[in-house]
Amino acid sequence: MIPLCDLQQQYSVLKEEIDEVMQQVAAEANYILGSNVRAFEQEMAAYCGCRHAIGVGSGTDALHLSLRALNIGPGDEVITTPFTFIGTTEAICMVGAKPVFVDIDSRTYNVDVSLLEAAITDRTKAILPVHLYGQPCDMGRIVQVAETYELAIVEDCAQAVGATYQGKRVGTFGKAGCLSFFPSKNLGCFGDGGMVLTNDSQVFERVEMLRRHGGKVKYHHSEIGLNSRLDELQAAILRVKLRYLDGWNRSRREHAYRYNRFLESVPEIQRPGEFGVRDSAVPTCTSEANEGIEAVYHQYTVSVADRETIQSGLGDAGIASAIYYPVPLHLQEVHRDLGLAVGTFPVAESASKHCLSLPMFPELTEEQAFSVAERLRRLTALECQAA
Ligand SMILES: Cc1ncc(COP(=O)(O)O)c(C=O)c1O
Repeated sequence: MIPLCDLQQQYSVLKEEIDEVMQQVAAEANYILGSNVRAFEQEMAAYCGCRHAIGVGSGTDALHLSLRALNIGPGDEVITTPFTFIGTTEAICMVGAKPVFVDIDSRTYNVDVSLLEAAITDRTKAILPVHLYGQPCDMGRIVQVAETYELAIVEDCAQAVGATYQGKRVGTFGKAGCLSFFPSKNLGCFGDGGMVLTNDSQVFERVEMLRRHGGKVKYHHSEIGLNSRLDELQAAILRVKLRYLDGWNRSRREHAYRYNRFLESVPEIQRPGEFGVRDSAVPTCTSEANEGIEAVYHQYTVSVADRETIQSGLGDAGIASAIYYPVPLHLQEVHRDLGLAVGTFPVAESASKHCLSLPMFPELTEEQAFSVAERLRRLTALECQAA
């Protein structure tokens, strides 16, 4: 069996180091906002190249608290993509604002920046780009639009920790960058966890306060907040894993390069394209190759015509695959009130019908990547013969 992601293998490699820090936390018994949370916040701020990092309970909370810290609320609109995880719009709706979608770019699956300006109204307060699958959005254009219209940028980097756009880490382009440490993420903990990155001291102070029941001083509360602190045990585990993150992301890029090479002779399979890379067969392992943009391949997602047949064929061969995401957010029941019919965002709707994510994790071997690609090639050839 080739899994989509292999967390057991990752733990078995790091077992000694992780078990040791877990025992230290247990023995110190300083379980809430202890020394590991503080140290991890500093280490992440240094790693990402920003002034502040605040550990919170999840990626969804990181988005929610960032929007709250920016005073975005009822009557406000936030522009985002319909092709993302529900946590993105959940956060917008939790503060009482309205998600306004724009369609995606078929090559990158990220928001199509040429459509941003048309979506701006006098209620628009922020743009919330999502670096889906670990591919950085076109931040140059997004920053330009945000500056022109005086909008905040809150980046959803849940799938993109460590990715860079023109040499700068995602999450540091706007008012806030939001990370998720959900176990299967590139930097994942042993439960839920998240983080807000910011260079803005007001956002920092507000999120810091909101995550602990809206008060700076214990038992003194100035506003309704949340109980959303990154757990000390999770921070200790994440500190160990952070030391491996760059190596893991490098391996993911190498796997993506191999997949690209193995699949380049099959035009029926659309490989993931990065912004700034005209030909997705171009090596994506070095920043020189793609103008300073480094994706971190949280997923390696192809687009295929008959996804159901291909997915079941891969399954029969013991190869796991997944669909992120089968229903775009504008067509989800929860967003029925937005009144957006089928056909409103054709590119996102088509992506949701054809996207298929292949096994992708740092420990994947070259042989495994080759078997996946070979099986996919054969299944596609059979499909073409049948058509
Ligand atoms: C794009 C995106 N946004 C937000 C989230 C929410 O993160 P969490 O699950 O930590 O709340 C996720 C995680 O699955 C995600 O992939």
